[in-house]
Amino acid sequence: MSTFPTTRLRRLRQTSSLRQLTKETRLHKEQLILPLFIKEGIDEPVPVPSMPGYHQLSLSCLKKEINDIKDLGIKNIILFGVPDSKDEWGSSSSREDGIVQKAIHEIKSLHPDLLVMADLCFCQYTDHGHCGITHQHKNGYDVDNDATLEILNKQAISLATAGADVVAPSGMIDGMVGYIRQTLDSVGFKHIPIMSYAVKYASALYGPFRQATEGSPLLGDRRTYQMDFSNGHEALREAALDIQEGADILMVKPGHTYLDIIYRIKQTSPYIPLAVYHTSGEYSMIKAAAERQWIDEKQTVLEVMTAFRRAGADIILTYYAKDIASWLEES
Ligand code: PBG
Ligand code: ZN
Repeated sequence: MSTFPTTRLRRLRQTSSLRQLTKETRLHKEQLILPLFIKEGIDEPVPVPSMPGYHQLSLSCLKKEINDIKDLGIKNIILFGVPDSKDEWGSSSSREDGIVQKAIHEIKSLHPDLLVMADLCFCQYTDHGHCGITHQHKNGYDVDNDATLEILNKQAISLATAGADVVAPSGMIDGMVGYIRQTLDSVGFKHIPIMSYAVKYASALYGPFRQATEGSPLLGDRRTYQMDFSNGHEALREAALDIQEGADILMVKPGHTYLDIIYRIKQTSPYIPLAVYHTSGEYSMIKAAAERQWIDEKQTVLEVMTAFRRAGADIILTYYAKDIASWLEES
């Protein structure tokens, strides 16, 4: 027999009060960002088949959605536009009367305190579905990095002018953060933060989102600009570069299968806010299993979200933000 008493870790697990008191990680609705898809040329919300419970919204139904969001206590949203017309350069992304620009005006007039972020990319706006201008070069068909930087600037100015509080470049174009920062600064938008999709993997989990935003690449894939999921060290380089270029918030995407990446970035760069994107595929997998009653939806979602926080994420982008806000209210 040992001379020591048994170490009783269960002592602090006995009651809900003890468990609450000693909880290491908490989830708050202020940390959530709700993504919204706004589609041009529709009058009613259109359901997204691969994202049960999720819709493409029309400008005309924004009022109801924004009121719901406000009532639930959601403080932050990120907008994705689904335009009527596409071309080679994604020019409708920078139009003063573009769908996202109009939505920002509308939302700001309904609810000025809501933090409105705008995704900054081209895949929904280009007829080829890539995240920038494409060209043919010696290794084949690809996104032209530096030509894309020029048009990213235009879109950044357009979104900031429309009233976006934060811009979020998601194209994984080298130099995008520095370029956009310099441009915003030079035209009077020094105060607009950049949330960079710093570490975005080429993932199969984006499938439902591409249906929702009608932005799949027609030819090829995104592996020449998004990261290889085999790589971890490279993510630290991406994060360090974006910090150096002036990013205000970093993001890792997807979430559930990249907790190691979240953890490593938080350890190596603890002083910059870190966001994680719980992607469409992650949402749809939980939905599908819950619909079959194979898992408990609420418990699963809260467990995944808490794991993000425990790994080191400060901010979570999730299609479940509304549900979470109401679940946190109950508990
Ligand atoms: C495109 C973009 C994607 C997502 C956010 N911005 C998809 C892609 O890169 O193909 C994915 C979001 C999700 O799956 O929820 N720039
Ligand atoms: Zn894109």
